[in-house]
Amino acid sequence: MRRPILITGSTGKQGRALIRALLHGLPPIMPSAEDEYRIYALTRSSSSAAAKALRESENEERLQIVEGDLDDRESIVRIFERVSGEEGGFWGVYCVLEFPGLGADATGEERRGKLLADLALKYKVQAYIYSSAMRSGPEHEDTLILSGRAKANVENYCMVLGEKGLPWTILRPGFFMENFDDFLGSIAVGVLKSGLKKETTIGIVASEDIGYVAAGVFRHHEMYRQKILTLVSEFATMTQLEDSYQRALGKPLPSVPAAVAWPIMKMNKMIRWLINDLEKSHRARVEGEYPQLENEVSLANEVFEIRMMRTYYDWLRTRKRQRRMERLGESRSRKAKWNQLSLGKLLTGRA
Ligand SMILES: NC(=O)c1ccc[n+]([C@@H]2O[C@H](COP(=O)([O-])OP(=O)(O)OC[C@H]3O[C@@H](n4cnc5c(N)ncnc54)[C@H](OP(=O)(O)O)[C@@H]3O)[C@@H](O)[C@H]2O)c1
Repeated sequence: MRRPILITGSTGKQGRALIRALLHGLPPIMPSAEDEYRIYALTRSSSSAAAKALRESENEERLQIVEGDLDDRESIVRIFERVSGEEGGFWGVYCVLEFPGLGADATGEERRGKLLADLALKYKVQAYIYSSAMRSGPEHEDTLILSGRAKANVENYCMVLGEKGLPWTILRPGFFMENFDDFLGSIAVGVLKSGLKKETTIGIVASEDIGYVAAGVFRHHEMYRQKILTLVSEFATMTQLEDSYQRALGKPLPSVPAAVAWPIMKMNKMIRWLINDLEKSHRARVEGEYPQLENEVSLANEVFEIRMMRTYYDWLRTRKRQRRMERLGESRSRKAKWNQLSLGKLLTGRA
C-alpha cells in the first residue's frame, strides 16, 4: 500500500525537488519498498504553466496534482477529507510556504503554516516536515522580523502541537545556490560582493538537495521526529564561491559591477537588512554563539546516506553534466523523429 503524501509548493523549487527525489530516488537516496508513496502535489491552479510542466516532466500515476489554496481553509480541508475517505488519510505532509518578498508582511505565511500543522494533527499525519529557513541561533530569535518571525512562530507552533502528537521535523535550508542564476542572480552576486565583508561566509545549499534530505527524512521519519536539521553543504565567502564557479565552468561567476550594486544597496533598506542578517549569522557561527548549528548541519548531511550535500563546485559540475545529457537526448530524439529516418538508414537504404 502506498503512503499518501501531501506536498505544498509542489510547483516551486523545493516541492519539485522532493517530488523528483521521491519518484526517481536518484542517488544518494535509492528507492526501496518503504519509499512507495502516492504524491498529492498541491497547487492553486492545475492549469498554470508550472503545474503543466510538473505533470509533463513527471508523467506518473503515483503523482496527482490537487487544487487548493492555503488561504482558503475549506479547499485544504476538502483534500484531507477526500484522502481520508479514499486512502485512510495522509501518511505524510511536506509544508513549504511561499516567501512573501523582502520587506513584505508575512502574517499570511504564518497563518498558512499554522493551518497546515493544525490539519496534520487533526488528521493524524505520521510524518510532518516543515521547511523553514536557516537562522542565526537562539540568541538572535528576538530580532527576527517579517518572514523570519513568521517562520519561527510556525516552528514554535509545530513544537507545541508536537506535545499533542504532531510528529514534526523542521528543515532549515541555507541560501539557495539557484539564487545566483540568471540576471537577478548577477545582481545578488554584485550586491553580496559589495555589501559583505571579505571574510564573511554564507551557508548555501542546492534546492535539489533539499528534496533528497526531505525524502530521507520521510524514509527515516522516526529517527528525525522532533529534530531540527540545518541544510547547508558549505559555508563560503563570495571569493570562494567565485573561485568554485570559475573552476567548475571555466568562466567568471556573472555579477553586476559595484557601480550598479552600490546604488541598489543605498536605495533598498531591506537589502541592507539582508546583508546585516548574513553578517550576523556568520558572526554567530564563528564566535560560537550557535553551538547547536554543527549538530543540525551534521544531521542534514547524514540523511544523505551516501555522500554529503553538494558543494557549489560539485553542484555546478553535476548541473553542467545534466544539461549536456539533456541536450544530447534532445538532439538524438530530434534526429530520430526526422521522418523516422537516420543517416544509417539513408545510406543503407533500409526502411
Ligand atoms: N531562496 C532562498 O535562498 C531560501 C533559503 C531558505 C529558505 N527559503 C524559503 O523557501 C520558501 C520558498 O520555497 P521555494 O523557493 O521552493 O518556493 P517557490 O519556488 O517560490 O514556490 C512557491 C510555491 O508556493 C505555492 N503557493 C504560493 N501561495 C500558495 C497558496 N496560497 N496556497 C498553496 N500554494 C501556494 C506555489 O504554488 P502555485 O503557484 O502552483 O499555487 C509554489 O509552488 C520560502 O519560505 C523561503 O523563505 C528560501
